[in-house]
Amino acid sequence: MSCHCALSVAVLAFAGRWCLGAADVGDFAPCVRVFYKSWPPKGLAGTPICQRYHNQYRFATLYSRPRRAPWFSAYLYSAPTGKRPHSTWKFEPQLAYPEADGNMVPFQPGPLDQNVVDSQAVEPDYINSTYSRGHLNPSLHHQSHEDRAATFTLTNVVPQKVGSNDGPWEALEQTVNKTLQAYCLGEAYIVTGIIPYLKDERWLKNHRVAVPEYMWSAYCCPNYNSSLPDELKDEFPTYAAIGRNDRNSTEEIVPVSETAKKQFRGYDVRQMPLDTLEMYLRDRFQTVVSVFYEQCSGSD
Ligand SMILES: *[C@@H]1O[C@H](CO)[C@@H](O)[C@H](O)[C@H]1NC(C)=O
Ligand SMILES: *[C@@H]1O[C@H](CO)[C@@H](O)[C@H](O)[C@H]1NC(C)=O
Ligand SMILES: *[C@@H]1O[C@H](CO)[C@@H](O)[C@H](O)[C@H]1NC(C)=O
Ligand SMILES: *[C@@H]1O[C@H](CO)[C@@H](O)[C@H](O)[C@H]1NC(C)=O
Repeated sequence: MSCHCALSVAVLAFAGRWCLGAADVGDFAPCVRVFYKSWPPKGLAGTPICQRYHNQYRFATLYSRPRRAPWFSAYLYSAPTGKRPHSTWKFEPQLAYPEADGNMVPFQPGPLDQNVVDSQAVEPDYINSTYSRGHLNPSLHHQSHEDRAATFTLTNVVPQKVGSNDGPWEALEQTVNKTLQAYCLGEAYIVTGIIPYLKDERWLKNHRVAVPEYMWSAYCCPNYNSSLPDELKDEFPTYAAIGRNDRNSTEEIVPVSETAKKQFRGYDVRQMPLDTLEMYLRDRFQTVVSVFYEQCSGSD
């Protein structure tokens, strides 16, 4: 595909860095390998982003422009090594400039490009808000430094309460890491997304970025060690979870444990079979949502 960057004066300044190839918006084709059977989740509508960093596709995100936040991110798990990187936060130029090459770009100090501000969340949206930056695709689930650094893009992030992000949700990410590392023998496909409020949508302070009521996650590991301990028998080939992001939510979907530490109370995570998750997604989105092809029942 040819490059039309010179059409826009605003783009010219960045043309050297961004104008290298085809746009990545509109299609998951270049990064379809991160989905089980190359089959992206069905039922949710948004802007597909093949998340590209240092000229390689790293994972996939279905982005909601009106919410300036993702519906879900999908990625291949790889056993982590080393520490969480101190990474700079990045944005997706192609959401503002369709001709951009799709590599994510670090935010620079100084004034922000208004076209970028209009098209997606930017750092000031989160600064001084009462929410942290909650990764959907966490750096914890990746081996290479570059795969980890690539998760630090605001299109992979939702407003998440610290009590969830540093508490039960992080514990879930660690549990999934241990489970997959111990018993998954082949690829593990993970999709992590959000559930919006049913009504009375919440927003970050300046009404630009929508806050999710819940977060959800599911993995699909078709090729696993069949000598599973009893407590993991129901957790292969696929398992899921929903986590609270609001202490005040009712308890129908995820009950609250009274014994949790005070700072984590009300941010419980409930693990559940994939079809239970899909039932809650159908209820809230009022449409059938399918996370994995044939519910990850395939044989490879
Ligand atoms: C955050 O709050 C500090 C202290 O009130 C203020 O100086 C700063 O400008 C605020 N930053 C943003 C991005 O709102
Ligand atoms: C992931 O799980 C493995 C196996 O239990 C463990 O050794 C490793 O420390 C875990 N990694 C993280 C970042 O928690
Ligand atoms: C499967 O798990 C069993 C029991 O934990 C273990 O002894 C065996 O080595 C594992 N097999 C593989 C292929 O990892
Ligand atoms: C939860 O309810 C309390 C008391 O009504 C209120 O102060 C707080 O802002 C609510 N929290 C959220 C996240 O809505």
